[in-house]
Amino acid sequence: MNRVRTAVLPAAGLGTRFLPATKSVPKELLPLLDRPVIDYIVAEAVEAGIERIVLITSRGKDALADFFDRSPSLEAHLRSAGKLALLERVLEVCSRTEVVTIRQQQTLGLGHAVGCAQAAVGGEPFAVMLGDEVIFNESPALGHLLAVHQTMPPSHAVVALMEVAQEQTGRYGICAGEWLDETRMQVAAMVEKPRPEEAPSRQAIVGRYVLPPDIFDVLAQTPPGAGGEIQLTDALAVLAGQGRVIGTRFPGIRHDTGHVLGMLRAAMFAAATRPDLQNEFAAVLAEVTALYGSGD
Ligand code: UTP
Repeated sequence: MNRVRTAVLPAAGLGTRFLPATKSVPKELLPLLDRPVIDYIVAEAVEAGIERIVLITSRGKDALADFFDRSPSLEAHLRSAGKLALLERVLEVCSRTEVVTIRQQQTLGLGHAVGCAQAAVGGEPFAVMLGDEVIFNESPALGHLLAVHQTMPPSHAVVALMEVAQEQTGRYGICAGEWLDETRMQVAAMVEKPRPEEAPSRQAIVGRYVLPPDIFDVLAQTPPGAGGEIQLTDALAVLAGQGRVIGTRFPGIRHDTGHVLGMLRAAMFAAATRPDLQNEFAAVLAEVTALYGSGD
């Protein structure tokens, strides 16, 4: 039994790296094949045993709440047209778990977005899953973090770690610490978006966390950091200083769909592994490679 029941999905950001598409469509709703990105993340949460999603949105992103809501006219249309398989898929989106929506009134950063969930989460440990990061794996990557969390006192945090190239450290929160075994690190220090020459390691935090409820008190005291935003990493660094943060490698391949190439890469991985698409996709890929192959 999970002792973590709630997952917070911050999805209130401006998505500037995906403009102009995100001028009117939230990046978390951009399609990864035929499902919005956020749908893969909710599916991962549900598979990991999460019972309740707290979705953080903002002005102009109401379509996110609509996606998880019932749509009686669409359902009636599909039913009368005999499109029952599609109807089932549409209904599944809103029936698999409870989704609560909260608005972040100003996009002051990821730490601030998580802080907006305090009243909805209450006094329990909870998960955070970034609304634009998908992890493809047979078993849910979040389930791995929850299992690690289960072996520790509930006052501890668990963060997902991925090794990145030195020149990429400036895109991530970076952890330093001591490996306890092959997959778990006792995190001693964390720094958000360090320049490559200042990065304490190449272990980057990616978009899955399990957090204790007192992180909300720490967040409330956290001043703006890198990029002038209230950073979750800065709040976690306080917990790390108290010996309360474990970093863990996780199973699966992680994709950042918040920028064009990341989305394209995710779509290619998704198509290459989906039985109804993989053969035709391989043919398209071969055609593109034959025409533009080396990129010269
Ligand atoms: P990002 O930094 O990738 O999102 O945050 P962004 O700010 O929308 O992207 P760019 O840099 O302008 O392209 C990771 C996740 O945190 C959410 C985002 O929606 C995204 O899912 N987020 C970020 C918030 O909910 N609120 C914020 O203030 C910032």
